Parts: sequence; structure tokens; C-alpha cells
Amino acid sequence: MQNNTFPLFSIGQNVVTLQRVDSTNNYLKSELSKSKPIAEGTVIMAENQFAGRGQFSNTWLSAAGKNLTFSVLLSPEFLNPASTFILNIAVSIAINEVLRKIIGSDCKIKWPNDIYAGNNKLGGILIENIIRGQKLKYAIIGIGINVNQRQFPDLMRSTSLSIIAGHSFNRNLLLKQFCKALDHRYRELKELTSTNHLRYYYQNLFGLKETRKFIVSGWEITGEIKGIDDTGNLLVLIDGELRAFASKEISYLF
Ligand code: BTN
Repeated sequence: MQNNTFPLFSIGQNVVTLQRVDSTNNYLKSELSKSKPIAEGTVIMAENQFAGRGQFSNTWLSAAGKNLTFSVLLSPEFLNPASTFILNIAVSIAINEVLRKIIGSDCKIKWPNDIYAGNNKLGGILIENIIRGQKLKYAIIGIGINVNQRQFPDLMRSTSLSIIAGHSFNRNLLLKQFCKALDHRYRELKELTSTNHLRYYYQNLFGLKETRKFIVSGWEITGEIKGIDDTGNLLVLIDGELRAFASKEISYLF
């Protein structure tokens, strides 16, 4: 008998490759506004994403044909729209675990939405939620990973798998691995078996328990990263006081 609580779907069962698009997140959003339904787990991947977007209205630059720029459609109606950071955690650890197998433990999750290798950015995640009524109807999970690009003229502190490993990678195989890991972690979240997510997140969190410099309201401060709270704020111990910061309120100083 089919279990109707968890409808059958699989991330990456349906992959649409676009040769050229402004942003795969934009594309999914615009497709959702049309009448034709899109299956949960559908992946839109772009060979050339010419106006990619990052967090806080940043742009995401990616050389055509070299990297992975893709978006996954999820329908996490089971999540409370006010506490969606657990989705960010599930996605971050899925991406991190694939990359760790390739480049090792130097690969970290940099709160709130980056993937780092050492002190360099290897990838980024942009999750856009669509709320209808009181429900989290859709989450568009945008992922950009620097794969075979070896030069980043406009970007400081960027790196790629190819720079780190010294050879190029088959992007389709990588995409399959990301889809499989995302599917696994998302299913755990949905089926309430995600008890190890936070532990994995902490084990791989960039700068955890380290004293680092940050910028807060234009000021340089020094604090120790203690973790994250239930709403996904970063907890930093500053002069003996534990303070919680939303992502817009604090940035790392390198
Ligand atoms: C960030 O680092 O700020 C997040 C970057 C997210 C980039 C990906 S690439 C695929 C998807 N489409 C976009 O326009 N952005 C995301």
C-alpha cells in the first residue's frame, strides 16, 4: 500500500537543462506562476546563468559551461514558515557532505549560506520561500558551486573544485551526487528522522568555537562563534555577553 503521508518524489528525477537563463531561481519562480504544475524535486540547471543572484541582492557570477548553477523545487508544506532555518541546515549539510568527500574536511559551511574551502568561497545557497496562506507552499533552493572555473577576475577569495583538486570534474556526475544527498537529507527532515542534522552542521560550521573578527553596524568587533539559535541567528560571545545576530546584522572580517 502506498504511504500517502509522504508522496513519492525524488530530487533530480526530472532535470531540465537550460542553455542560457538569467537565473535558475527566477526561472522556477516564473514557471510556478504558470498554470502547468511542476513536480516537487524538479531541478533546473543552467549552462550559462548570466544574471545569477546571491543573498542580499548580491550577484552570483559564474563562467558559462564551467560550473554548477541549479535550482531545486521543494514543497515543504510540513514546515512552519516561521522556522525554515532547518531547511537551510538540511541543504547545507547535503552540499557539504558531497564536497567533503572530494576535498576533505577543509570544506565548511559558513553561516548563513556559503560553502567554504579554507578561507575561500566554493559555493553559495540561495533559498527563496513562497508562502501561500499560512503555508510554506514552495522553497526554491538555488545552488551555485564553482567546479571547473580556474580564474575569478572579479572575485576575491573564490575557489573551485578544479583549483583545489588540480583536475576537472564531470558536472553531470556531481549534480547527481548533490541531488542524491539533498534527497536524503530532505527526506529525513520530512520524515522527522533528522536528529543528527544539527550535530553535523556544528561539526562542519566555519569558525565554530573560534575567536574571530566581525563587522557589526559598521564597527569591528571580536567574538567567539558559539552556534546558532532556533531561528537561525548566529550566536556570538562578545565581552562575556552571548548575542544573537540575524544574517544582515553581522559579517565576517577576513
Ligand atoms: C550566495 O552566495 O549569496 C548564494 C549564491 C546562490 C547562487 C545560485 S546559482 C543557482 C541559483 N540561481 C541564482 O540566481 N542563484 C542561485
